[in-house]
Amino acid sequence: MTTSTASGKIILFGEHAVVYGRPAIAAPVSQLRATAAITDAPAGSGCVLFAQDIGEEVHLSTAAADHPLALALRLALEEAGIEKEPNWRIVLTSDISIASGLGSGAAISAALVRAALTHAGQPARPETVSRLVFRSEEYFHGTPSGIDNTVIAYERPVWFVKGQPPERFGVGHPFTLAIADSGLPSPTKETVGDVRRGWEADPAEYESRFSRVADIVHGARRAIRDGNFVAIGQLMNINQQQLEAIGVSSPALEKLIAAARGAGARGAKLSGGGRGGNVIALVDDKSAAAVEGALRAAGAKGVILTTISHR
Ligand code: MEV
Repeated sequence: MTTSTASGKIILFGEHAVVYGRPAIAAPVSQLRATAAITDAPAGSGCVLFAQDIGEEVHLSTAAADHPLALALRLALEEAGIEKEPNWRIVLTSDISIASGLGSGAAISAALVRAALTHAGQPARPETVSRLVFRSEEYFHGTPSGIDNTVIAYERPVWFVKGQPPERFGVGHPFTLAIADSGLPSPTKETVGDVRRGWEADPAEYESRFSRVADIVHGARRAIRDGNFVAIGQLMNINQQQLEAIGVSSPALEKLIAAARGAGARGAKLSGGGRGGNVIALVDDKSAAAVEGALRAAGAKGVILTTISHR
C-alpha cells in the first residue's frame, strides 16, 4: 500500500490580486491534511477512486474527461509513463473543509498525484506535483494563479508571483494566526469569476486596487522579515479593505474579523477566495484564547492556530 498526504493552506496577503500578476504570501496549514491510499487490486478490476468524505466512487475508465480527481490521476499516470489503466483501489480522505479557502481541492489532488507517482515507482518532486495539480486546478476554477498548488506541493511558506518559481521569505520572529471557519462554503471559482467580471467592466479601477495590494504585500514581506507584528496586523487590515472594495468579503466574514480585532488581534482579514470560508487573525500568547473565544461567539464553526516560522 502507498499512502501520501498533502496539507491545507492559507493566503496571508495578496489573494485575487495574485491572479493579475501581483505577488502574494501563503503558508501551509500542516495540521489539516488530505490523504490518498493506493492498494493493488485483482487483475481486471481497473482503477477505482473512493472519495470517502463526499461518498463518491469514480471509475477511471468511465469518468468524464474533466472530472477533477480522474483528471489529476490521469495526469499522474501519464507523467509516470503508465499507458494501460492500472488495477488500483484508491481511497481519498480529507479533513479540510470543501470550498473554505483552505485549498481542499488542491490538497486532495496533491495527495492523489503524490501517491500515484510513488506507487508507480516515480519520484514525487514538489515541482512535478505542483505542475500536475495546477493543470487539474484549471478545471476547478478557470484562471488559477498557481499559488494553491505551489504552497501545498512545496509545503512551506512562499512568496509567489504567477509564472515564477516560489521564493522563500525571511521570518524575523515566528508569529501565530488564528484561522476561523465561517462554515459558509464559497467555491473559489465563483469569486474569481466575479472579480474577473468587475475587472472587465472597470479595468483601471481594479488594476489600481491590485497595485495597492502589491504595495501591501511588499510591506508585509518587510514586516515579517523584521518581526514587526504591529505592521503585519495593520497590513492585514488594509488588505482586507481592498478585498471588501472588490466585493469578495461578506457580512459573515466581517463579523468574525470585527470580533477578532475587538478581542485583541493585531489584524484580521479573509483568506483565500472569500465571501465564505475562513478568516485569519494575528494573535500572540496573551490574546490567543480571547480571540478564539470571540471568534466562536461570533459564529465560527472551528478555530485552529498555526505558527508561521522559518522552515
Ligand atoms: C485562492 O486560494 C487564491 C485566489 O487568489 C485564486 C488564485 O490565486 O488562483 C483567490
